[in-house]
Amino acid sequence: MKDARSFLIVALDLPDRAAALEAVRALSGHVGCFKLGLEIFTREGPRLVEEVLGSGECVFLDLKLHDIPNTVAGAVRSACKLQVQMLTLHAAGGREMLEAARQAAAESAVPPLLLAVTALTSLSSKDCAAIGISGSVTAWVEQLASLAYEAGVPGLVASARELPALRSRFGGKMQYVIPGIRSAGAAMQDQSRSVQPGDAILAGADYLVVGRPILRAQDPARAADSIVNEIEKALRSPALSHNS
Ligand code: C5P
Repeated sequence: MKDARSFLIVALDLPDRAAALEAVRALSGHVGCFKLGLEIFTREGPRLVEEVLGSGECVFLDLKLHDIPNTVAGAVRSACKLQVQMLTLHAAGGREMLEAARQAAAESAVPPLLLAVTALTSLSSKDCAAIGISGSVTAWVEQLASLAYEAGVPGLVASARELPALRSRFGGKMQYVIPGIRSAGAAMQDQSRSVQPGDAILAGADYLVVGRPILRAQDPARAADSIVNEIEKALRSPALSHNS
């Protein structure tokens, strides 16, 4: 059985390098990977990525790339040079962009796991209609996920709400990264469709992304351990039967 800690990714949504490195120090050995997103990357740049990697940790670079194929391929090559373990791009960039990204990653000796973001969970049906999506959000998510699958991008970032549909469509042929995780009784903050860690694992998540419930806890390592405990219980449950 995979170590339960390896399922847990902490979102380092923090203002600066000092805060990020402090969180890495506190959580090292308690979680599987650290997610550096647009906020901290824009401020601290690749040097912080190198520092986190240099301390022996896994880095998920959440840049949500979305541009013409040539530009995205170049950005993927740059991320490969950093040797991050995971990297996001928008499925809505289209098949050619996704294929160019996959090819660029494949040229690397240490390619990151490429993850396609489908529909941002912040978009309501009304927002989707306003940008020209005529069907349901779920149908659009499935369409974007198929595009990623056909282009050879092996992972998806999805909300737990869409996970069962994606799992039944692609089974274990894709990897599923699920944000919006909250343990029972935890503050929701701005997450409105959150699921509990164990439920996300039982629904087929390969990785869970958690930010504030860990970072804002009095004892972040203990908060992470408690989530890992919930993951472990789910992994041992006979109800876990999605490995198709
Ligand atoms: O603090 P919290 O656990 O809500 O953080 C969740 C992380 O997952 C944030 O970095 C957020 O940007 C990211 N995320 C999300 N919903 C998505 C995609 C990413 O919450 N649909």
